[in-house]
Amino acid sequence: MSDIAPVRWETDRLILVDQTVLPEREIERDYRSWQEVGAAIRTLVVRGAPAIGVAAAFGVVLAARTSHAATFDGLLADLETAIKGLAATRPTAVNLFWALDRMRQAAVASRALPLDAMRARLLAEAQAIRDEDIAANRAMGAHGAALVPPNARILTHCNAGALATAGYGTALGVVRAAHAQGKVALVWVDETRPVMQGSRLTAWECVREGIPHRLIADVAAASVMARGEVDLVVTGADRIAANGDTANKIGTYSLAVLAAHHRVPFYIAAPFSTIDPSIASGAQIPIEERDASEVRRVGGQQTAPSDSPVFNPAFDVTPAGLIAAIVTERGVVRPPYHF
Ligand code: MRU
Repeated sequence: MSDIAPVRWETDRLILVDQTVLPEREIERDYRSWQEVGAAIRTLVVRGAPAIGVAAAFGVVLAARTSHAATFDGLLADLETAIKGLAATRPTAVNLFWALDRMRQAAVASRALPLDAMRARLLAEAQAIRDEDIAANRAMGAHGAALVPPNARILTHCNAGALATAGYGTALGVVRAAHAQGKVALVWVDETRPVMQGSRLTAWECVREGIPHRLIADVAAASVMARGEVDLVVTGADRIAANGDTANKIGTYSLAVLAAHHRVPFYIAAPFSTIDPSIASGAQIPIEERDASEVRRVGGQQTAPSDSPVFNPAFDVTPAGLIAAIVTERGVVRPPYHF
């Protein structure tokens, strides 16, 4: 059972676990404006596709609370400004846009209500998005655990755990559920350069929950598979196209290629809020490029000349043909994928 709550609402403010300082420090921070929430998403205080959707939904709640508008149209205009600002924070995870659309629809549907009732309605919607995400993760855990053989050695990349969601996790939710069934011998945790979500966050969750794990540098994954020590790979997703092509943390594609070479099943676990049926293939998924300093420095230490040009895509696209199954809250989907 996971009691990690990376995104929570308290009376009049949003509280986020600061994921930039884990595992060294466990700190929660308070947010009282949508602009602060936007900055937290951009700087990875909160990260992971479902978690940024939930945080952005509460950002819209804060926008409604801080607006001085006296009419519905005035309030809606302020919400649109916030929605636009929050949508501009990170481009790849579709959950962000999905959650913001839901909040916009809830606002529009509240036209006939007094403004305070509309604000209450928006808070209820954000809380529903959060609660539905946790329920989806638990369902995914149950469906995905059925794919895990006894004594499984599972490799995962990045962090698709409780921290990346409203709670419990997607790929790590599958691991959690399989672990609860006594089926997990070992989780191989990729460190996940350049931002180290694997070593900083997934390993932290595994330690906290007593899940047996072993950390590896990303470059060791091929060797571990070649030694026959991986039974399956499972990762999360940031956006899944209609044909099943899947964007996830940079390095996921290379793992899928390695898994195919070593005949290891490669699975994705993601809720329907991560599926974008409006785009035909992964070629249309916008890939975020982040600051060069993430690659030139490690833990504050300069590891490359400051003048070296850098390419730093935060995500890559794994072609559907390399994905053995996609675990969703509605069940396990096998190829060919048609979302
Ligand atoms: O840049 P991040 O840390 O937000 O990237 C996160 C990932 O790539 C996760 O694997 C993905 O969002 C799924 S989280 C359940």
